[in-house]
Amino acid sequence: MTESELRPDQLSQLGGLIARTIGLHFPREHWDDLRRGLAGAAHEFGIGSIQACVAWMLSSPLTQAQIQVLAAHLTIGETYFFREPQTLNALATHVLPELIRARQGERRLRIWSAACCSGEEPYSLAILLHEALPDLDRWNVTITATDINARALRKAAEGSYGEWSFRDAPAGLKERYFNRSPNGRYVIAPHIRKLVTFAYLNLVDDAYPALAADAGAMDLIFCRNVLMYFTPPQVGKVIGNLRRTLAQDGWLVVSPSEASHALFAEFATENFPGAILYRKSPSTPLAQRPWAAAPAGNATELIACEAEAPPLPEPTARATTLTLPPEPPPAPLALAESLYRQGRYADTVETLLASLARQTPGPQACSVLARALANLGQLGNALTWCERWIAADKMDSAGHYLHAVILLELAQPERARSCLERAIYLDPDFVLAHFALGNLARSRGKSAAADKHFANALDLLRARPADELLRESDGLSARRLTETIASMLAAPTPS
Ligand SMILES: C[S@@+](CC[C@H](N)C(=O)[O-])C[C@H]1O[C@@H](n2cnc3c(N)ncnc32)[C@H](O)[C@@H]1O
Repeated sequence: MTESELRPDQLSQLGGLIARTIGLHFPREHWDDLRRGLAGAAHEFGIGSIQACVAWMLSSPLTQAQIQVLAAHLTIGETYFFREPQTLNALATHVLPELIRARQGERRLRIWSAACCSGEEPYSLAILLHEALPDLDRWNVTITATDINARALRKAAEGSYGEWSFRDAPAGLKERYFNRSPNGRYVIAPHIRKLVTFAYLNLVDDAYPALAADAGAMDLIFCRNVLMYFTPPQVGKVIGNLRRTLAQDGWLVVSPSEASHALFAEFATENFPGAILYRKSPSTPLAQRPWAAAPAGNATELIACEAEAPPLPEPTARATTLTLPPEPPPAPLALAESLYRQGRYADTVETLLASLARQTPGPQACSVLARALANLGQLGNALTWCERWIAADKMDSAGHYLHAVILLELAQPERARSCLERAIYLDPDFVLAHFALGNLARSRGKSAAADKHFANALDLLRARPADELLRESDGLSARRLTETIASMLAAPTPS
């Protein structure tokens, strides 16, 4: 039996099972990847036929061994030392100094690299910590590194790497923290190796036994380049679990491409050059912190500079030796948002564009610019900023919705339709997106499809208080939209 003989219903059933047990999302357009992964898993299980392997997996709840093998064949194991250097730079210049200062009394730090793959990430963290804490030996530091892929964990524990793992690493890293093995590989130095403990952990499990002792007490969690592969419900669940695992002032680090205002709404957001980090509780605004003026280099410079820096008497000295800014810088985004709320769209745009010379716009700034420009009727520019917003925060359904609204104004209904579908995929309860799809179908004479979309919108509206103002609606209440849809359904569909 060949791979292509798997029926759509089997692939769909298996996709559901994988989403529930591993978190991974395999929509129809990724079924080729799913087939390839299954072929590899069947081979590893020693089952000659993929059909038989699939039937076996669907016959009873998956065991941990099955999950591990499946995960190894279905996940992307891409990782390397000092990946996303701007994130690590934010860690080295801001997060670690602040955590070290806050934990000086107890001298205890707990760090978790979730989905650590073959170990490059937790060892990078251990190296940064080693650089940041001259008296590390006097601290009780735990770096727990977990993954669902047992093979990757074994490689991580061995700590032996080839050149490819250093493709973005700072100069001098190999020389300072690795020993060359006779076969030419780089083996992590024992004093860094002993800082990291590896364990199996499936992020979508309800409980995290590997972390039981540190539950609710993690100071820093790295969970990068894994959420992007999960289904939206699993992403939400995992983010909630990660939040619960954090200490009150703990930090969560995801990849810049996974950052999302919508998904991390319960966290406080802290912006750094090229990195958006999340915090369980809001902290002192960054601009008021003594090290707010820290120069933005990159991790390469950081390691090079610190190699030459004189020893520091106290860990906190790194932060306090930096120059204080004369006064906190103005906050153009807050100002622009207030101008936008007053309907002063031209001033909103001017304020934000003027600030761009000083800082890269984050998703929020892009969204305000896109909305203000759309309200000014500058649709081409609005489209550009909306696309930047989506590039910075792919998971925010509001960005895809605005994208659709602008495209509709630009008479591009097909593109608008797929943006609306994306918005609903990310947020199935997005009433206005269902409504807009209904309007689109209706305008093209597809009355059955229109009725279906309107029925979805009405179902969602029924579950809401009548006075609730709908998101992305500029003040439209649930009652008003219900009435509008009812009158549209009563009227004949335009031909
Ligand atoms: C692309 S790697 C990311 C490695 C590292 N965090 C980085 O950013 O370089 C994704 C990792 O997620 C792991 N993974 C996938 N699903 C998982 C799950 N449900 N629980 C834990 N780890 C998972 C994979 O095994 C893989 O090692």
